[in-house]
Formats: sequence, structure tokens, C-alpha cells
Amino acid sequence: MKLKNKDVLGIKELTAGEIESILDTASDMKKIVQSPSKKAHYLRGKSVVTLFYENSTRTRVSFELAGKYMSADTVNVTAAGSSVQKGESLLDTGRTLDAMGTDIIVIRHSMAGAPHLLAKHVKASVINAGDGMHEHPTQALLDMFTIRERFGGFKGLKVAIIGDIYHSRVARSNIIGLCKMGAEPVIYGPATLIPVDFEKIGAVIAPTLNDALKGADVVIALRVQLERQKKALFPSQAEYAKFFGVNYENIEFAGKNVLLMHPGPVNRGVELTSDVVDSDNSAINEQVTNGVAIRMALLYMLVGRE
Ligand code: CP
Repeated sequence: MKLKNKDVLGIKELTAGEIESILDTASDMKKIVQSPSKKAHYLRGKSVVTLFYENSTRTRVSFELAGKYMSADTVNVTAAGSSVQKGESLLDTGRTLDAMGTDIIVIRHSMAGAPHLLAKHVKASVINAGDGMHEHPTQALLDMFTIRERFGGFKGLKVAIIGDIYHSRVARSNIIGLCKMGAEPVIYGPATLIPVDFEKIGAVIAPTLNDALKGADVVIALRVQLERQKKALFPSQAEYAKFFGVNYENIEFAGKNVLLMHPGPVNRGVELTSDVVDSDNSAINEQVTNGVAIRMALLYMLVGRE
């Protein structure tokens, strides 16, 4: 199946069929990631620019490697080292990259909607690598890929998403995607960090942490995003860990084979205790590997639209 749109801006814009097709393509791509040569030639002659206005390790590096593993020419642009510092606008930066013949622009921006704006003004395909507190579609796709690898599907799975839901584009994209695929997302966190409108996109708000964890097939702990808080929304990190952190005691409420996930970077001892991060239930490193496969699938499928 081909992708309907020129751009990948959010999970909201993808159909369940497209999501399934991206996950199927990522399964094939993962074989390349795990092969000794890690090389295919699907993107030879194509160019991919990662344009990052916010910090990143996983997303930026995995897009770059995804392009390289498929023989694309990849270039990184960070706001700190570019003409953005001289006052160039987002659209002028995008048009400049377009004029150089860039095929795909991968953008992360602190402003919700920035990738959507850029996509309207460039010929290149645009992939949203995280826009403010809005969406992080490639993270949700790699999370869904990790869940599907373990459980074979999504129907009826209880997925507990714990923590700073309010600031989390990962939570929003995952809830939209998981609902489309038939899973049942449940959310829990500090009352100040639980937006009620998340019920409208399909999440159930649990009354306690143990209720959220009870019988969960998957637990996704979210990073506390101190950089997005304009005022203190919980008393301290120690108290957050005590009341909202996932640890060896409360994880017992989840299913025995619970799949434990976190988008990273992890604040060890805050969202998750270190023993849980490093436990056999943890899929955190697998998520990172799967992130490369998902990003390869998207680059491949966007170029294949031509
Ligand atoms: N999960 C995630 O987006 O990580 P980075 O900020 O390191 O890209």
C-alpha cells in the first residue's frame, strides 16, 4: 500500500490500513538493520535533511542512519548552527532546502503545527519528528511496532500510559494510533498533568496508579518534561517518583509478561526505577532499534509514492 499523503504530519492523518502497512514495511527494514552489511540501495540518489529546532538523540540519529542504511544522502541541520540564528524564518529555511533538491525534510520544532506549515510551502515530503506538545508520529509508530512484535496485534490490549500526559506529544500520538488499531489506552499521572480532553481522543483516565497498572499488557512511562513547565506542576522529583513512578512493587499489578516501554530519554529514579529500566520486561532498547526500522519504512514509502 502507498501512503496517501505527500507528508507524514501526524498519526491523526494516517488510516489504520496505512499504519498496518508501515509496520509491515518496518518488519522487512528491521532485517536490514540487523544484517551484517546494514545496506540497501532503495534511496540511492535521494536526499534527506533533518532540520531540528529542539534537542534530540534518538529521533535525529535514527533518521540519519535510516537514510544511510538505504543509501540516501543525509544532512543534519540544527537551529543552533544554522542561519536560523541570523533570523531566517522557518519557511525561508524550508524553501532554501527545497531549492537544493531535498527530497525529504524531517523537522522537529517547539511550535505545534510547524511541520504542517512547512509542508504547505515546500515540494519535499515533510516528516514531523515532534512538534511542540502536539504529535510525535514516528515515536508512536515505533511504539506500536514494538507492541505488535510482542503481541501479534492490538485488539483489546490494555496499554497504560503513565506520567506527564499534558506535555506529551508521544502520549497524544500513541492514544490516537492505539485507538485506531483497537487497543485500549488508559492514562494516569499528576492531576495537573492530565488534560481532560484526552478522553475525547479515546483514553480512559484511571483514578489511581494501581488501577492504571492493573492487568496492563503494556506500560508506557513518559518522561517528565521539566523544560516545558512554566511553573511547578508537582512538588518535587522525589515526590513524583514516590506517587507516580513505576517501580518493582507497583509493576506487580500489571500482567506477568507486561511489556515496559519509555520513549527516552529516561530520568532514572523518577519515571522508572533503574531496576525496572534494566529488567527483562523492559523493551526500551528494542524501541530504539525499532525506531530505525520505522524511519526506514517511512522514507522508503514516501519516496515510493513518486
Ligand atoms: N523519544 C525521543 O523523541 O527521543 P529524542 O528526543 O532523543 O529524539
